[in-house]
Amino acid sequence: MKIFHSIAEMQKVSQELRQAHKTIGFVPTMGFLHEGHETLIKEAKQQNDVVVLSIFVNPLQFGPNEDFDAYPRDIKRDETIARKLKVDYLFYPATEEMYKSERATLIKVEKRVDVLCGKNRPGHFDGVATVVMKLFQIVMPHNVYFGMKDAQQVAVLEGLITDYHLLINLVRVNTVREHDGLAKSSRNVYLTEEERTEAPSLYRALLLGKDKILKGEEIDNVTQFVAKWINENTQAQLEYLEILSYPTLAKVTDTKKQESLIIAVAAKYSKARLIDNIVF
Ligand code: PAF
Repeated sequence: MKIFHSIAEMQKVSQELRQAHKTIGFVPTMGFLHEGHETLIKEAKQQNDVVVLSIFVNPLQFGPNEDFDAYPRDIKRDETIARKLKVDYLFYPATEEMYKSERATLIKVEKRVDVLCGKNRPGHFDGVATVVMKLFQIVMPHNVYFGMKDAQQVAVLEGLITDYHLLINLVRVNTVREHDGLAKSSRNVYLTEEERTEAPSLYRALLLGKDKILKGEEIDNVTQFVAKWINENTQAQLEYLEILSYPTLAKVTDTKKQESLIIAVAAKYSKARLIDNIVF
């Protein structure tokens, strides 16, 4: 595995790979790799000639009161995982390299952000879209891999790819779950034993909601039913429960329209904030 810190070096190699007609699969991350990332890397390995993994904790997507400084970092551990999974190139730039000169532009995400997690994180997806656009120019991938656990991020980035006519295929990778249905997350370790036993109920609630929608129930009724079910059957503090069109993330007016829907939840336990969703 080759490691690059410099944008120019990474770009040169990407250019050479493209000239040699190699397909480039790209997995952008902020590091502290977990099983979700491993799934993305494995899928990229299967579908491309070479795989590039980036690790960059992007200051632009953190709000003033968010945990940029405390964000977990362990590059040695990440390197070991990347080597084990046979990543070909690890791009690991410093902040000064990525934001070398004063930024003259910022990508402003105008749609798909005033709902779900974006509602409480103004500017977050502008930071994500801006850094991802930069990474795309550096790595020049054919295929990029993102997990559906962050379905809103996928929706925003699909919008970015469409709006800017990028010749990039975004591969949506399904959420990896524990045997009892709980979505895998590095935050699950913060659950107490009792909370861990109860937490799969969130996924169960989403499945109940999906079932009701498929049986033709009104969206507002289903939203209320699922929210009430979570409040009655779990100790989690419900932050949101929303049913929207996907990937446009707009209010659903007519369930008979042939469009995909997302039912998404965020709920807070004593130390862990969990998110989950189903797209169908
Ligand atoms: O999902 C993440 O880890 C980040 O938002 C991403 C896409 C790497 C951009 O910094």
